[in-house]
Amino acid sequence: MLKRRTAAAFGAAAVGLVLALGFPALFPSEADAAAAAAAPVLAPGAAPVVPATETAPPHRPLRDNRPPQAPDPQEPLVFGGYPDAPAFSVVPRKPHLGLYPCSQCHKVLPLNKQPRALVAAPHVASLPHGGGRMWCLDCHVGEDRDWLRTIDGRRVDFDQSQLVCGQCHGPRHRDWAFGAHGKRDANWQGDRTIYACTHCHDAHDPKIPPREAAPPPPVRAGLERPALTPAHAAPVWQRAASGAR
Ligand code: HEC
Ligand code: HEC
Ligand code: HEC
Ligand code: HEC
Repeated sequence: MLKRRTAAAFGAAAVGLVLALGFPALFPSEADAAAAAAAPVLAPGAAPVVPATETAPPHRPLRDNRPPQAPDPQEPLVFGGYPDAPAFSVVPRKPHLGLYPCSQCHKVLPLNKQPRALVAAPHVASLPHGGGRMWCLDCHVGEDRDWLRTIDGRRVDFDQSQLVCGQCHGPRHRDWAFGAHGKRDANWQGDRTIYACTHCHDAHDPKIPPREAAPPPPVRAGLERPALTPAHAAPVWQRAASGAR
């Protein structure tokens, strides 16, 4: 009882704060419920107020999670963000794709939306990316395989695949647009052309595995290489991976 009362008081205080700040319509259903709880005396004859119970909507898979006004799926996505970022163009990817255009096979193959092991595919057949949270058709248009897609169903050109990545890796995408992640293709002056995410990351298995460090440079003739201390013996990335400092 005590707990419930403090909770109600806290709720009322929170609603008061929201009202005082001038956002009365922010959470109307909660505000109504709290107001009803805070007013125990009912006018004679009034129906008792039943607090609105909020039932959580059932979980939907990501790919079915469309916004209420779904954009036209035929319309390619044009990203107009980061007005402050220096202008850039992206190094095209299509020339690097051995199997593009995909429609050469897929226009005759039946579409199978079922996540499964692709035993008959001549291409990538498994998806380590995201640890089982995604399936091919979250990024590829099922009906027209020559296009990538966003989660909300808009088409993305294979040369603009960073727009697909940017949906879920927003901070990296922003860093990349500003030049703090990724790499510029030649030209430190003049037109800014940068590599797409997929030049460096495999879209299907994007984690870049740690690499062994290059051997240290040779010591001068006649000198001896100093012995490694235990702290130096293991490369930094190995120590970081094992959790040791
Ligand atoms: C040489 C023929 C061939 C080409 C080219 C090809 N695919 Fe496929 N793909 C297949 C076959 C066959 C399967 C079905 C595999 C299975 O069911 O085991 C498949 C399955 C798929 C699937 C699984 C969903 C489905 O419809 O079955 C996706 C996604 C896919 N391909 C994407 C692509 C993309 C993207 C490209 C172009 C970059 C491409 N494929 C090019 C032959 C091809
Ligand atoms: C996270 C989004 C994403 C998912 C999920 C995904 N792909 Fe892709 N896929 C891409 C992107 C982006 C490219 C373009 C890669 C590039 O630029 O090198 C691509 C390229 C491809 C290609 C062309 C590769 C080549 O070198 O020709 C095939 C084939 C393909 N995907 C099939 C699949 C299949 C099959 C699945 C499911 C098992 C799948 N993809 C899941 C984003 C995705
Ligand atoms: C639908 C959301 C989604 C999209 C689209 C997506 N990713 Fe991911 N990505 C994930 C998830 C989820 C993980 C796994 C994170 C984890 O398990 O900690 C991941 C992991 C990664 C990782 C490894 C990070 C790590 O710490 O292991 C890289 C790199 C990466 N993605 C790059 C890309 C690139 C490049 C693209 C575009 C081709 C892309 N992602 C598109 C959701 C997405
Ligand atoms: C020039 C190559 C290059 C480009 C282009 C690039 N990345 Fe990376 N990315 C890397 C390297 C190298 C790492 C570091 C890997 C590590 O620390 O294990 C990395 C790390 C990441 C990670 C974290 C992975 C981890 O293990 O912590 C994510 C997520 C990621 N990149 C996403 C993106 C996205 C999204 C884009 C495009 C907008 C992109 N990258 C473009 C090379 C690149």
